[in-house]
Amino acid sequence: MKLGWGDGGVQVKDYVFHRDLTKTYPIITHGKGVYLYGEDGKRYLDGCSGAVAANLGHGDKRIAEAMALQAEKAAFVHTMRFETPVLHKLAEKIGKLAPGSLNRVYFTCGGSEANESAIKLSRQYFRNRGEPEKQVVIGRWLSYHGNTIGSLSAGGDIKRRQPYNGYLLPFQHVSAPHCLHCPFNREESDCETKKDWSCVAELERLILEIGPSQVSAFIAEPFTGSQAGAVPPPKSYFREVRALCDRYDVLLIIDEVMTGFCRTGAHFAIEHYGVEPDIITFGKGVSGGYSALGGMIVHDKIIDTLLQYGDGKFVHGYTYSGHPVTVAAGLAAMDIYESEHILRNVKGLEGHLFEGLDNLRKKYPFVYDIRGKGLFFGIELASNQDGQPFPPDLRIAERLNEKAMELGAVFYPGNGTVNGYAGDHLIIAPPLIISEREVDELISLLDDALKDLADSLKEGT
Ligand SMILES: Cc1ncc(COP(=O)(O)O)c(C=O)c1O
Repeated sequence: MKLGWGDGGVQVKDYVFHRDLTKTYPIITHGKGVYLYGEDGKRYLDGCSGAVAANLGHGDKRIAEAMALQAEKAAFVHTMRFETPVLHKLAEKIGKLAPGSLNRVYFTCGGSEANESAIKLSRQYFRNRGEPEKQVVIGRWLSYHGNTIGSLSAGGDIKRRQPYNGYLLPFQHVSAPHCLHCPFNREESDCETKKDWSCVAELERLILEIGPSQVSAFIAEPFTGSQAGAVPPPKSYFREVRALCDRYDVLLIIDEVMTGFCRTGAHFAIEHYGVEPDIITFGKGVSGGYSALGGMIVHDKIIDTLLQYGDGKFVHGYTYSGHPVTVAAGLAAMDIYESEHILRNVKGLEGHLFEGLDNLRKKYPFVYDIRGKGLFFGIELASNQDGQPFPPDLRIAERLNEKAMELGAVFYPGNGTVNGYAGDHLIIAPPLIISEREVDELISLLDDALKDLADSLKEGT
């Protein structure tokens, strides 16, 4: 194990508490466009925008300058006492992008805090309406909403939940609509034509079992991201869910932390399904990954309730909510999304990226499925044509990404794809400024990494 780095062979202590203490990672000195550069001069094509965050690529001086300028003007003001022009400008831009009556924007420092805020706001909404017992949140298995205790409790990623079992809140979970591995053995087309969804019926049963008077919110990612590898829902799933939430007076929180801001070829992925949520949470792409920014966009009915029946105060907040420098990054990012016609680029390259990935599916039998939309795709890897997952200890997705990194590209590997503990996938989500030539390079590097994996599987290693 490498403990640290040093001059002339002298071992120095490593002061970083790494995510995995048995590992150190390549040191990146800078980035430009879709590329990151290591201190050893190695170049990596960023095939997953870091953690699906660096939507606008690396080294964009316009965002860096906007942050520096704001830091010079006023780096910190407390939002319990003051506000800044950038706060208002960014809230207006995001509020105008959001669907329907979602207008008010509350800022946090990332996606976990955004979902934590949405969970607490749902509770406050019902408390202000005189229904304090309405407080159970329902989430979905195979979903991720963050690592704080509230967001982790709402999420359904068993590997992340297990070490904290005793700490988690008594939230409930239903199956996600992952038709490829439908837990009810149904066919997607059958559910669509008959409008008879086992997974939606499961949600209704759970609401009735808990009692509608106890349930405050249902939270879902529009496309299941890190846990299942960019899985889009069946076309009318969210319309059915919206109808249920309306029937039982349950707030619908849509977690767009990974999918927001053009990633799937719409400002927000839920737009593809014609549904208006009550709260949208966001993070990552809002600042193109240049600052630790997230937040929630809130429906007017919630704001009106807080004002009409409460005292207008949301009992919540963080020191760095609406931090002017992070917000300035978001504002500069919004300008670039607009002026560089990012949505157009995403829609223009969607087919090309999909075709490249689908050719890899045809070439390698263990590439079981390609799914996604916009510039957000998942590759599912399986040991046979029936989608049987590889044994988890083979670390197939991790190994594939390690090989890709050796070759000069980085992707987002994940496991537990099929049922929470077995299954492997890779998320392909390059910066949205990528060009056609760079998409070709991404596919070619991935092809080489897959070939290496195919060889080692043949050798039985
Ligand atoms: C859908 C979703 N929600 C929430 C989060 C948590 O966001 P953060 O890591 O910024 O706290 C993530 C992070 O990957 C995510 O993908």
